[in-house]
Amino acid sequence: ENHQLWGGRFTAEPSEYVQSFGASIQFDQKMAAEDLHGSLAHVAMLKHTGILKGDEADQITAGLHQLQHKLAAGELQFTIENEDIHLNLESLLTAEIGPVAGKLHTARSRNDQVATDMHLYLKNHLHTVMQLIVELQKVVVTKADSNVETLMPGYTHMQHAQPISYAHYLMAYYEMFQRDYERFEFNLKHTDRSPLGAAALAGTTFPIDREYSAEQLGFADVYQNSLDAVSDRDFILEFLSNCAQLMMHLSRFCEEIIMWDTQEFQYLELSDTYSTGSSIMPQKKNPDMAELIRGKTGRVYGDLIGLLTVMKGLPLAYNKDFQEDKEGMFDAVDTVEQSLTVFRGMLDTLTVKTDNMAHATTHDFSNATELADYLANKGLPFRQAHELVGELVLKCIQAHKYLKDVSLADYQALSPLIAADVYQALDPRTAVERRTSLGGTGFSQIKKQITAAQAKLK
Ligand code: ARG
Repeated sequence: ENHQLWGGRFTAEPSEYVQSFGASIQFDQKMAAEDLHGSLAHVAMLKHTGILKGDEADQITAGLHQLQHKLAAGELQFTIENEDIHLNLESLLTAEIGPVAGKLHTARSRNDQVATDMHLYLKNHLHTVMQLIVELQKVVVTKADSNVETLMPGYTHMQHAQPISYAHYLMAYYEMFQRDYERFEFNLKHTDRSPLGAAALAGTTFPIDREYSAEQLGFADVYQNSLDAVSDRDFILEFLSNCAQLMMHLSRFCEEIIMWDTQEFQYLELSDTYSTGSSIMPQKKNPDMAELIRGKTGRVYGDLIGLLTVMKGLPLAYNKDFQEDKEGMFDAVDTVEQSLTVFRGMLDTLTVKTDNMAHATTHDFSNATELADYLANKGLPFRQAHELVGELVLKCIQAHKYLKDVSLADYQALSPLIAADVYQALDPRTAVERRTSLGGTGFSQIKKQITAAQAKLK
């Protein structure tokens, strides 16, 4: 004998060990609210179409409401014997209202049920993630707004390249987060679609109304093909891929925060509230939160690769392999929501050491391009100017000085094209201010970017 809900054609039970290996209740109970929501929409549809009698449907609806209250109060007990959230809730419903509960599963399968739950769960969290991105963008833009004239060296190959505004640097991340937001927005379109009514794989002979149940659930659309509806996990893969990319952005940002918070750079200092100490070295103040976000990027990549690999060989339609889609999705949701929240607070509270940043731009050769441009503006071919300045930089390095320390007489010996206004051109502030090409680091350009971002974030 077999006591499972599906036990009719069985003569024996799986062992406890096998049952627990096959069960998903340990993790899919996260979708209990979504499952009840889906069942309520399904029973409303069964009533609407006359598939169930009104009083039966009402009894089931009342029972589901009862379960919603108990779930909220933490009074529902789930068991491994009932395998997953769907069978657990069905058996709890039976305990609540008796055998009429068995009518709920008319014209439905766990296959479209689980797909519906996942769409509902992810749709909900997509909204949360998108909102968290916007909140982070607000902090980025506010910080940029108060640092338009904060100068720092811009880097390529981690070598001082040209001076830039710190706000320009911050706004680069604003742009990345904007693309992340737009990717999730697109992802939402694919998630906002109801698989309910696809049944096991082939649809159903009952005169169901899929649009009606979809509307009950607030879905904008329905799947057009029942095989696709129960077999599609693209919406989760898109989510994981978008999460991977978002985490990559956060991780790069973290890497710079970690580096710039070092003794060697001292461009930034993290707030005590986002730092940790050492159990042995009394002086330590470690950027643990930034490091953890950088580290957690790895697990989100793992979630993506994990599900891609689960999916690659699966024939249509449902396969139990699909059960492996959940933990990675839950993990990515939790990791991304937490990382965005912690990162936002960390960025908001860190101190920018503007003097150190500015000092770095006056004690380097990041103004060498300015001198070459200066000569090119006076008619010297840029290649020759580049060569000339390169030689001068080498001489300066040997003489332990910077371009601003070279005398006017020496400059004029180098090229008669050079006049006293060269010092103005070499000033990093001038270098930044003048880069007014579209998207450049010039103050006027950054202010434009900030104003546009502020309007968008309203
Ligand atoms: N726990 C299952 C899952 O997560 C629910 C669907 C079960 N369907 C089935 N035909 N066994 O995929």
